[in-house]
Amino acid sequence: MGYSTFALHCGLAFIFLAFHPVNGDVSYSIPEEMKRGSLIGNIAKDLGLDLGRLSARKARIDAEDNNVQYCGVNLNTGNLIVQERIDREGLCAKKASCVLKQELVLENPLELHRINIRVQDINDNSPQFKEESLKIEIQESAVKGARFLLGEAHDGDIGENAVQGYSLQQNDHFKLNVNTKGGGRKYGELFLDKELDREEKNEIVLLLTAFDGGSPQRSGTVVIRVTVLDANDNVPVFSQSVYKASLPENSPLDTIVLSMTATDADDGLNSEITYGFDHVSDENSDVFSLHPKTGEVRVAGIIDYEKVSSYEMQISAKDSLGLVSYATLIIEVTDINDNAPVIHLKSLSNPVPENVSPGTEVGIINVQDRDSENNRQVRCSIQQGVPFKLVPSIKNYYSLVTTGQLDRELVSDYNITITATDEGSPPLSSSKTVQLSVADINDNPPVFEEQSYSTYVTENNKPGSTLCSVTARDPDWRQNGTVIYSLLPGEVNGAPVSSYLSVNGDTGVIHAVRSFDYEQFRSFKVHVMARDNGSPPLSSNVTVSVFISDVNDNSPQILYPAPEGNSFMTELIPKAAHGGSLVSKVIAVDADSGQNAWLSYHIVKSTDPGLFTIGLHSGEIRTQRDISESDSMKQNLIVSVKDNGQPSLSATCSMYLLISDNLAEVPELKDISYDEKNSKLTSYLIIALVSVSTFFLTFIIIILGVRFCRRRKPRLLFDGAVAIPSAYLPPNYADVDGTGTLRSAYNYDAYLTTGSRTSDFKFVTSYNENTLPADQTLRKSPSDFADVFGDCDASPELEKAVSRV
Ligand SMILES: *[C@@H]1O[C@H](CO)[C@@H](O)[C@H](O)[C@H]1NC(C)=O
Ligand SMILES: *[C@@H]1O[C@H](CO)[C@@H](O)[C@H](O)[C@H]1NC(C)=O
Ligand SMILES: *[C@@H]1O[C@H](CO)[C@@H](O)[C@H](O)[C@H]1NC(C)=O
Repeated sequence: MGYSTFALHCGLAFIFLAFHPVNGDVSYSIPEEMKRGSLIGNIAKDLGLDLGRLSARKARIDAEDNNVQYCGVNLNTGNLIVQERIDREGLCAKKASCVLKQELVLENPLELHRINIRVQDINDNSPQFKEESLKIEIQESAVKGARFLLGEAHDGDIGENAVQGYSLQQNDHFKLNVNTKGGGRKYGELFLDKELDREEKNEIVLLLTAFDGGSPQRSGTVVIRVTVLDANDNVPVFSQSVYKASLPENSPLDTIVLSMTATDADDGLNSEITYGFDHVSDENSDVFSLHPKTGEVRVAGIIDYEKVSSYEMQISAKDSLGLVSYATLIIEVTDINDNAPVIHLKSLSNPVPENVSPGTEVGIINVQDRDSENNRQVRCSIQQGVPFKLVPSIKNYYSLVTTGQLDRELVSDYNITITATDEGSPPLSSSKTVQLSVADINDNPPVFEEQSYSTYVTENNKPGSTLCSVTARDPDWRQNGTVIYSLLPGEVNGAPVSSYLSVNGDTGVIHAVRSFDYEQFRSFKVHVMARDNGSPPLSSNVTVSVFISDVNDNSPQILYPAPEGNSFMTELIPKAAHGGSLVSKVIAVDADSGQNAWLSYHIVKSTDPGLFTIGLHSGEIRTQRDISESDSMKQNLIVSVKDNGQPSLSATCSMYLLISDNLAEVPELKDISYDEKNSKLTSYLIIALVSVSTFFLTFIIIILGVRFCRRRKPRLLFDGAVAIPSAYLPPNYADVDGTGTLRSAYNYDAYLTTGSRTSDFKFVTSYNENTLPADQTLRKSPSDFADVFGDCDASPELEKAVSRV
């Protein structure tokens, strides 16, 4: 109790005492907490006691029950004074009236007076809370209007001085209700005015004040700590509603695609989030994995852009109490150039004929690439050096087109390599080889290896002998390149060529069909055709020239003097002839040519060897000296004519010369010849000539015999029909000094019997019958040939010459 209020209380105490005189008892009323020594009342006066006798009577105050001596008596003045602190709360606590009972004891005589001291309350205690702070836990889910009891505040004072009310610090959520209990005690309760949100504020601090009704008023405060307890009132929230990621295809397993995060504003278990796929179609389910705790999406399968180019999945985030929210995950797969282009051959004309014109389409090609965009842009190319190109057609189609003329004979097969490259990075390519063969067209005629052929054959060859062979090549295929040889129809000297030559159709070997006679013709030409077997066939021609070379098979033929027997010719030589005068001339011809027909003349026997000479090559007989009277009138010369062949052939003739000026003097010439027979020289000559002639005749007979026996072999009969020339040499014989070329007119007739298919026996008319004047030709009928043939006499002149000798 403060002393500032003491004086006031004392004043009141005195007024109170004056009105309570109790018989034997006195009552006083005092405020508590008076200072020691403070006057309560004058007890001597109030009890009517004798002041002077107080000390004698040992006046004293006794407490009834307790030992504490609250009051005392001043024996001199009779005042009752406060001796110990009087605390109402200590003495009476909450009792509404607090009376301190004391007794005044007097001795001599013993006298006992009761003193009742009524202690009155003063506001000396503040309201007080039991704890320093109040802790309250409230679920955030608590609804508006919920009440939460608060602890009471205590105040030692009573009545008005006790707790009269509470007040709450201003705040957003709570209000205070103050209720009164039975007994008038007041208590407060919190009233939830606005709902709590732990996530917004998880602790609220309030200050509660209790106040009493004293004057001056006292108060006490307590801090209320309101902890807001979590309720699972928040769903997990994804950081984005749609997650987009782009992922290259072929990403390896465990590649992290992205991480999703969802947050839950709740606390503890309520915020533990589990991620998962929601309604994933089966085919996607094993492609990605989702970590249930971290939210990481990883590759778990094969990512193939060509199969699936984008994935869309629902992702759920669930907290432990089952609140779920969803987000969409879109994974776009990006293309990687992992597919090479594929070349498909859609059609192919195989084989392609070699005569197709440039620009012909032979095939169609399609190119595909399963990638996308640039990775599927494909360029096609074709290898160099083939006569083909690719022409782009509609969308990924290409035509394979020829660029030039094909020639199977040059290139018969093509391996065309087509390469397709895409525009990816790095680019991929693939290639395909198209085998194309070129079909043959019969476009090449057979070609002879030589422009012309010449062959040389000596006359009198064997029929059937091989002359030469021709070869033609045809590069075409099979029958288009198969060459067949044949003779082109034609005539040689009026006879069909087939009677001269035959050609082997397969080998091209040319055979003589008959024996050739140089004296008939020296050369001829035939045309050989080579034809292939194509349809239509192609052919070409070549000229084959056959040159017949001479053999010395004709002996010189003496035209003049005429053969003996037919005429008896004698040259007259004038007696006055001087040396060197021309007396006669031997004229001889040889059907052979060249050296074989180069004739030389020799006098082999003469009556007077010194008188005549003969020109070695001219055959001119001249006198060597002047004729004298002594010379015999009859002169006989035997002249030999030899050709220059190897071996040489010869003929002889006799020439009769008469040295006379008058034909009447001419004697019998036969005698002259007889006379000469004894000459020794003549004997040698006869022997030589007979042996040569015999040999020759035997030869001729053998040939004729062979000819008779083998009638089916080709035979050639020939009788030169010689005109008696007006000049010395007949024009139809070879010119000895000439160029060796054929002279204009051979005149011959021939029988031919060939072994050929066409005819057995042919009469061939004169080749040159129109070119010679009729009067120069001794024509012979076929029957004449038969006569000659029958006589077996091929060389009558020679025989006659021999017989003459
Ligand atoms: C084409 O290819 C085939 C098979 O590989 C081969 O036998 C042939 O010789 C080739 N042809 C050409 C002309 O290269
Ligand atoms: C020969 O050529 C013709 C066209 O000239 C052709 O039709 C035929 O097929 C060819 N024969 C062969 C075997 O190639
Ligand atoms: C071959 O010769 C014949 C006859 O002379 C002629 O008709 C033909 O056209 C010739 N053929 C060729 C390919 O020259």
